[in-house]
Amino acid sequence: MKLTLRLLPVLAGLIFITGCDKKSASTSATPAAPAPVKLGYLVKQPEEPWFQYEWKGAEAAARKHGFELVKLGVQDGEKVMTALDSLVAGGVQGFVICTPDVRLGPAIVARAKLKGLKLITVDDRFVSADGKFMSEVPYMGMSASKIGEAQGQSLYAEMQQRSWPVAETAVCAVTFEELDTARERTDGSVAALKAAGFPADRIFKAPQKTTDVPGSFDAANILLTQHPEVKRWLVLGMNDTAVLGAIRATEGRGFAAENIIGIGINGTDCIDELRKTKPTGFFGSMLVSAPSEGFKTSEMLYHWVKDGTTPPPDTRTTGILITRANFEQILRQEGIIE
Ligand code: GLA
Repeated sequence: MKLTLRLLPVLAGLIFITGCDKKSASTSATPAAPAPVKLGYLVKQPEEPWFQYEWKGAEAAARKHGFELVKLGVQDGEKVMTALDSLVAGGVQGFVICTPDVRLGPAIVARAKLKGLKLITVDDRFVSADGKFMSEVPYMGMSASKIGEAQGQSLYAEMQQRSWPVAETAVCAVTFEELDTARERTDGSVAALKAAGFPADRIFKAPQKTTDVPGSFDAANILLTQHPEVKRWLVLGMNDTAVLGAIRATEGRGFAAENIIGIGINGTDCIDELRKTKPTGFFGSMLVSAPSEGFKTSEMLYHWVKDGTTPPPDTRTTGILITRANFEQILRQEGIIE
C-alpha cells in the first residue's frame, strides 16, 4: 500500500507526459543535451608512421575532452572531397587536415564553408591560386627552415667528427620542391652546410617524384650513377623517408655504412632503422613531436567548435637531434615508444 502511494505522483507524471503532444513535452521538459562534438582528422599518407603518431595524439585529445574522432586517409583530391561529404553526413562539425596536395586548398576551403565545417591545416600549408599561403586557414607545422638548418649543421658536425676529407665527400640532397615545407627544410639544410664551409659545388640535388621510399631511392640512384667519383656521402631530405630511400640506394651501390651519414627529419619513421643491430648509414633524425601536433591541432579545433575560440593563424614546432645513442630514451620521454 505504502509503495503504491509513493508511486502515485510518478504515475501521474507519466500520464501527464504521454498525454501531451510530443512538441510541448520536448520544449517544456529539460532542454535537449548539446550535440556531441565530433571531429575529423584527415591525412595524406596514413601508412607513414608520422601520421599514425599524429592520430595517436589526436586520440589522446579526444579522450581528454570527450569528443568523437573520425580518422581518414585522403591520398588524393577525390578522396578528400568524398571524405568531407561523409564527415558531414556523419554529423562532424570540423576537421584537421594534412592535404595530399597544397593546391587543393581553395577547393577544400570552399567545400568546408558550404558544409559549415571548421578547418585547421597541419604540416602542409594550403596555397591559393596565386601561389600565396592561405593565411586565413589556421595552420600548425614545423619551423621548416630552422629544422633544416639544424639537419645541415648536424651533418657537418658528424663529418668533422669522422675527419672525412671534404674532397672525397659530397652531399646528396633529396628534394621535393613543389611542397613549401619540404623546400624550406632542404634549402635550410643546404644553406647551413654552405655556411659551415662545405663547398657549394659538391652539393647535389636529387629531386623525388614521389614522397616515399621508392621515390627517394630512385632519385638518389640517378645521382649516385652521375657521380661515381664520390667516396663518402652526406644525405639530407625533407623527412626520414626521403633519407631512408637514399640510404638504401647507397647500399645497393656497395657503399659501406661508415662512408655514409644520413640525417632525416620527423624521428618517427626511422625507429626500426635505428634499432637495427648492425648500424646503417642512417645516423639520426631531427625529431619533431607528431603526437603533440595531433593533440594540439585537434584540441584547438575542439575549443573552436565548442566555445567559438578561434585558433592562432600560424603555430610552429621545433626539433631536436636523435641518434642511435639517445633515441630510445628521448622517444620514450616523448611518449612515442613505450
Ligand atoms: C610533411 C611530410 C611528413 C612530415 C610532415 C611534418 O607532411 O610529408 O613526413 O614531415 O610534413 O610537418
